[in-house]
Amino acid sequence: MSRGYTTVQWNQNKKIYDFILIGSLVMVVIAHFIFSSNSLPNGEAISDEIKLLRALGDTGFILLNVILAIGPLARLDMRLLPLLYNRRHMGVTFFLLTLIHGVIALFWYHSFGVVDPLTSLFSIHTTVDQVSDYPFQPLGFMALLIFFIMAATSHDFWNATLGPRFWKGLHMLVYAAYALIILHIALGPLQSDLSSLPAWSPWASLVWVGGLHVVSALKNVNRHSNSDSSPLEEGNWIEVEAPETIEEGSGRVVSIKDSERIAVFRTSDNQYGAISNVCRHQAGPLGEGCILDGLVTCPWHGFQYHLEDGRSPAPFSEKVETYKMMTQDDKLYVNIDALPPGTERPLTIFKIGEGQ
Ligand code: HEM
Ligand code: FES
Repeated sequence: MSRGYTTVQWNQNKKIYDFILIGSLVMVVIAHFIFSSNSLPNGEAISDEIKLLRALGDTGFILLNVILAIGPLARLDMRLLPLLYNRRHMGVTFFLLTLIHGVIALFWYHSFGVVDPLTSLFSIHTTVDQVSDYPFQPLGFMALLIFFIMAATSHDFWNATLGPRFWKGLHMLVYAAYALIILHIALGPLQSDLSSLPAWSPWASLVWVGGLHVVSALKNVNRHSNSDSSPLEEGNWIEVEAPETIEEGSGRVVSIKDSERIAVFRTSDNQYGAISNVCRHQAGPLGEGCILDGLVTCPWHGFQYHLEDGRSPAPFSEKVETYKMMTQDDKLYVNIDALPPGTERPLTIFKIGEGQ
């Protein structure tokens, strides 16, 4: 866990953050409600329920675009890391916002027929005041279900109970839910000319979210390397290529043994150390983090570890696997056999120019 960041407690900063978040969202919903049109193109009045439904849907969609952008933006600019550390509350707030949108839609469009609202929702054609003929509403429902699972399991208790890898896999479903929302909007309200969203909004969103993910992945390419060098004859040593290109206080992710990854870090005095790339919190990529206050800091929520032994600073008790390193013939090597979590071993000095 982290000494420098207080991520999961309800501290003053978190309260201010939540106040700003909820206050801004309420203002956007109110502004949308007040300033969006009161009538359809044919002059027919739009009910307050539908205006609210749209205001909540649009605000939720904007928030989803912010949430999905925070990860790549924080990779591109570390100053945005505090946003990443607090993204969980944003996700839960987003779920509550779109839950109200979904509940209003269920009541407004599906409560006046002879069948119950859920059966009506999953009937191919909507029942009352239908927006378009596409069955776009079940798509929103399925996305909402995913957002519910994510919000319900967002607490660290579930991360510890389900295990970081499974938890992470579960939360990657956000991309499936995002795709469902894009379809929900593009096949529904945008087909009818009645939406308060511009027709290009799903495309703009795809370019924004997709583009940021591609750009941040490209930026991180030089922080990852696949080692195809054959292990040295004695012991499973693989070469860390061009170690001098790892910036001081930064790391590089080295892939070994199919899915296993090692995080190799360089300290400010040219010492190198390797620990597991998998953060004990939610399996974040430690090698994409940096060394802050002398501690390897996870880029996702700020958990920290000593490079010397892979242990979190007291009073925290998390520990990750460590790896031996050595220099030979002006090259830097890491041993791919993990030492038990928390095992201390000396860091390896590798001077700039030594390998050139
Ligand atoms: C049970 C789940 C859901 C149902 C039944 C539902 C239903 C609807 C309906 C009926 C509309 C058209 C409203 C109109 O223009 O008359 C709509 C629009 C919309 N929905 Fe949903 N929805 C659900 C979930 C979601 C979720 C999770 C999001 C996430 C952001 C979302 C975002 C939107 C957006 C952005 C619009 C366009 C609003 C506008 O035209 O300005 N919906 N939804
Ligand atoms: S701090 Fe959360 S995954 Fe590392």
